[in-house]
Amino acid sequence: MATIRDVAKAAGVSVATVSRVINKNEYVNKETEQKVIVAMQELHYEPSSLARGLAGKKMNTIALMIPDISNPFFPGLARGVEDVAQQYDFNVFLCNSDDLAYKEKSYLEILRKKSIDGLIIISNNVNEEELEPLRMANIPVVLLDRPFNEQNYSVVRSNNRNGAIMAVEHLLAIGCKKIAHIAGPEKFVTARERRLGYEGIVSQYSWYTPSLIEHANFDIEGGKQAVTKLVANNTDIDGIFAGNDLMALGALKQLIKLGKNVPDDIALCGFDGISLTELTQPEITTIQQPIYEMGAAAALTLIKKLKGEITETKIQELDVKLIIRGSTEKGKKLPLAT
Ligand code: RIB
Repeated sequence: MATIRDVAKAAGVSVATVSRVINKNEYVNKETEQKVIVAMQELHYEPSSLARGLAGKKMNTIALMIPDISNPFFPGLARGVEDVAQQYDFNVFLCNSDDLAYKEKSYLEILRKKSIDGLIIISNNVNEEELEPLRMANIPVVLLDRPFNEQNYSVVRSNNRNGAIMAVEHLLAIGCKKIAHIAGPEKFVTARERRLGYEGIVSQYSWYTPSLIEHANFDIEGGKQAVTKLVANNTDIDGIFAGNDLMALGALKQLIKLGKNVPDDIALCGFDGISLTELTQPEITTIQQPIYEMGAAAALTLIKKLKGEITETKIQELDVKLIIRGSTEKGKKLPLAT
């Protein structure tokens, strides 16, 4: 079976030129392109995905680095990334960093050595210095969800602050008179933006005090612990905005354990829109991020960069949506268990 080298020899060009004709990712003059096409036809050459990568030692592979594979939000992003990558004949190399700086650095070195084509990264730890080896290797990077900076990279994220405002305004609209916030870790820009959105609304009320904010680690256990403190320190709260759905799930479980009726004693709103929030009783109202669309947009941005179709860096801020469910429908009788 003919190889890419046979084609190059027959056409009188380099392997890299043949690969550029196959990948269509760099300019090849028409005469040379025609010689390569004729050689491929005469030799009945079928470019393999390996052949596609030979020129620049690229393997039509992009990497996605996520911080917590156990949080359904991130696999939801990965689904969007992979579907778009497949449409453009790219494979996806998934890295789970556990939000640990040393794991992220180790993965970055592995990815550089493997000559992946491009990287989509969700990280608060990396910085431009750590991404410099990839830049030197001409490996483009797109920042997703929680960018460490928005000046020098293409970014895809949702409108976190606006989503927090929507959550608090909804709790006020259903009659809540004292609203607390379970905030994610301050090191994450997504958590900070949501806290700022919350504070921007509640700080105008006389009942607001900083003790109405408890931080947790974007997980179920953190939501439980935060509720215990909030209820102990503020016996009259009647609404809670949780900065992500896992903390909202923990909050719901702990509120019920503490004998609180959700929503009639304390209404609850989460953030993300993961499907687990539909499985609880009551179902949890949440601010739905366009999770799949965020992943898809990040992959499309990276692949267009690889094809030379876009060169500028840009910020894509996607809108979020309030999904109203039982945890904020006060006064509504729950369906009798049948
Ligand atoms: O649930 C994980 C959280 O971390 C999400 O809200 C997402 O935006 C990420 O920042």
